[in-house]
Amino acid sequence: MFTEHKPVLLEKTIDYLQCKQNRIYLDGTLGRGGHTEAILNEIGDTGLVIGIDRDLKAIKDVKKKFSKYNNLKLVHDNFIHIPEILEELHINAVDGMIFDLGISSPQVDNPDRGFSYQKEGPLDMRMNREQSITAADIVNNYTESELTRVISEYGEENWASRIAEFIVNSRNRERIDRTDQLVEIIKNAIPASARRTGGHPARRTFQALRIETNNELKQLKSMISEAVKCLKPEARICIISFHSLEDRIVKHTFRELARDCICPPDLPICTCNHQAEIKVITRKPVTADSKEIKENPRARSAKLRVAQKVLK
Ligand SMILES: C[S@@+](CC[C@H](N)C(=O)[O-])C[C@H]1O[C@@H](n2cnc3c(N)ncnc32)[C@H](O)[C@@H]1O
Repeated sequence: MFTEHKPVLLEKTIDYLQCKQNRIYLDGTLGRGGHTEAILNEIGDTGLVIGIDRDLKAIKDVKKKFSKYNNLKLVHDNFIHIPEILEELHINAVDGMIFDLGISSPQVDNPDRGFSYQKEGPLDMRMNREQSITAADIVNNYTESELTRVISEYGEENWASRIAEFIVNSRNRERIDRTDQLVEIIKNAIPASARRTGGHPARRTFQALRIETNNELKQLKSMISEAVKCLKPEARICIISFHSLEDRIVKHTFRELARDCICPPDLPICTCNHQAEIKVITRKPVTADSKEIKENPRARSAKLRVAQKVLK
């Protein structure tokens, strides 16, 4: 059974993609297929949409839900492999790409996936369940300083070192395998006065562990550079991110790829011969309006950035 699904920044993303019939589009984060479906509606029976997700459950669910579409190709893989995926499909380049980063509601809502600090379940957090490392492996095996770094860097958590210390003390007594166990440890680590502000005390640590488990930030940077090579001239790449760490990577990577010269600034003449691969279309990130935020609170933190492959 599928509940109503509201894809984030849908109209704006589709406007920026400028979909045309007979063209090929790629959705690198298929999820429940919300953006994919809108692209399919734009291109009609013509062209092709390639939908990629590292979560096999997402692929299986969309396959069932969208069985009526003949021009949808679903691929269970990581978006860092876009060049190989396209090669396998004998496609040189595509006419547009969309990435709606992060996790989907079916992933958060399922306690068995371990993404939510509000649901009791195994401390899993793998988007791809074929991957071996889980959040529990990180929590039980990383050193205290590694845990501090992850929680501080990826969770932007002020209490990172105290939380890491409490995790290590706790796992010395008993392995930490459940979300509720970890939530309790985090609550004990953060002083009561600090717990009163900043939302749920476990939110930032859970975000950090999810990012580390799925290697999200490193993969995002390498995906953008590789994906841009697979765009046709004047084709667009649209990326929706949900927290400042992701948005910063999108902004900086777009900026680097849009520069002609990447020589150090003190060099008197250019020796790199680097040429811009893209031009940035959105100088500032596009955000949701108040109506969308009211209907879909998740849209509040969404930021859309768009770039276009240059015509060489
Ligand atoms: C926010 S949801 C996408 C929602 C989708 N746009 C929709 O409207 O239904 C993000 C999806 O991207 C997938 N994902 C995240 N990182 C990925 C990666 N590196 N490669 C492939 N899929 C990824 C997740 O498994 C999740 O299903």
